[in-house]
Amino acid sequence: MNSDRLEFDTLIRGGTVIDGTGAPGRPGDVAIRGDRIVEVAPPGALDSAAPASLVDAAGCVVAPGFIDVHTHDDRAVLVTPEMTPKVCQGVTSVVIGNCGVSLSPLRLEESPPPPLNLLGEREDFRFATVADYVGAVSDARPCTNVAILIGHSTLRVGTMPDTGRKAVAGEIDRMRALLAEGLAAGAVGFSTGLFYRPNAAADMDEVVALAEVVADAGGIYTTHMRDEHDGVLESLAETFETGRRARVPVVISHHKCASPQNWGRSRETLPRIDVASREQRVALDAYPYAAGSTVLDPDVVEEEIRILVTWSKAVPEAAGRDLADIAGAWGCSQREAAQRLDPAGAIYFSMDEADVRRILAFPLTMIGSDGLPHDEHPHPRLWGTFPRVIGHYGRDEGLFPIEQAVHKMTGLPAQTFGLADRGTVRPGAYADMIVFDPETILDRATFADPCRTPAGIDRVYVNGSLVWKDGAATGAGGGRVLQRAEGGA
Ligand code: ZN
Ligand code: CU
Repeated sequence: MNSDRLEFDTLIRGGTVIDGTGAPGRPGDVAIRGDRIVEVAPPGALDSAAPASLVDAAGCVVAPGFIDVHTHDDRAVLVTPEMTPKVCQGVTSVVIGNCGVSLSPLRLEESPPPPLNLLGEREDFRFATVADYVGAVSDARPCTNVAILIGHSTLRVGTMPDTGRKAVAGEIDRMRALLAEGLAAGAVGFSTGLFYRPNAAADMDEVVALAEVVADAGGIYTTHMRDEHDGVLESLAETFETGRRARVPVVISHHKCASPQNWGRSRETLPRIDVASREQRVALDAYPYAAGSTVLDPDVVEEEIRILVTWSKAVPEAAGRDLADIAGAWGCSQREAAQRLDPAGAIYFSMDEADVRRILAFPLTMIGSDGLPHDEHPHPRLWGTFPRVIGHYGRDEGLFPIEQAVHKMTGLPAQTFGLADRGTVRPGAYADMIVFDPETILDRATFADPCRTPAGIDRVYVNGSLVWKDGAATGAGGGRVLQRAEGGA
């Protein structure tokens, strides 16, 4: 080794390297120069170096930063570039624009229809092109890297006078052109939220016509499926067929079997996904909780499950209260209460814990928080997802070894989304890295008290910059808009 190779900015010494590939952890020292990892060496091998920063990682794990594959952080990266709810968990990259809703390309003259209103108000939808949005992200310099998906509902709202029907040829052409522009500007793919009103009237032909543009660009297709309740198997079949017809890799978003009558059905869904994955590129994501969260829709209020209000425009003080209690106090049905709260958001305790565990442990499952950063009283997944997978489900519940937990949140998503030189600790990769204590890492956010930072995350580096240290942001930025690897991964 010649001496100038030993000039490092940072040397993280004495830790156990879990490299993100799923390989067993091993003792090692990791050196960073600029925005890259330059050496991963046996303990002590780099001790003759005089780095600007020497970090003692004894007793800690050194791992790639987490990639949150399912987020709605489109506006958060602009207005809260410090990205505290994510960085505190060790998240170094977020995939935005999921569930068919993205902030761009769309300029709005009216209030955004649900679920677009999860992202912001009319004036927030001000990017006619994805290129404009990319420029705004670069100016904001968020702490996390950002990979952009373009949402089908966003495209439909921007091109169709009435989203309650299937798009006609001219509208599909317009959407294809917008999508092509967005992919050229750096988007990594396309998402649908076929469950939601602005997207639901789109049939498979319409989705395929758009997904083909994504396939041509080497991008990926993610879907909040039409039905995650009684019709979940039919929706899986639709998703696989869409992927095959468009020749595009697909990701099933936040996979679940919702509503009590469907509890246990991951025993049926996971084998279907497994079979499909042998014929085509299929992956899925999940969050580590038996409750979901989205807009509160009076038409889908189920009385038999607990529903917790996360925000309400009409009755702001309802945030954090159970819908059943509100309905009781008002002397009306829960459905009626939901109508009075509208527009609003809610947490739905709609899943079975055994399904959640089975889905998390499934080898193709990546982790996505699906956190809603603008909610008044958010689902705790926004602040707790990643430490919960490692600390609660991995270490305390023994659902999987730590290497597998890390892989689901690093190497697997980087490979699936084609994020070059991300998601692994190896020489030449970007220095998106975390140092955490495997004994103490744990989520602290709860349904009652959701905005709490987790325990055990000591350091977070994004592109070589230290952005989080010992429970606090350092003030450094460092995130970039991530592009697809040439030709995909
Ligand atoms: Zn969704
Ligand atoms: Cu989502």
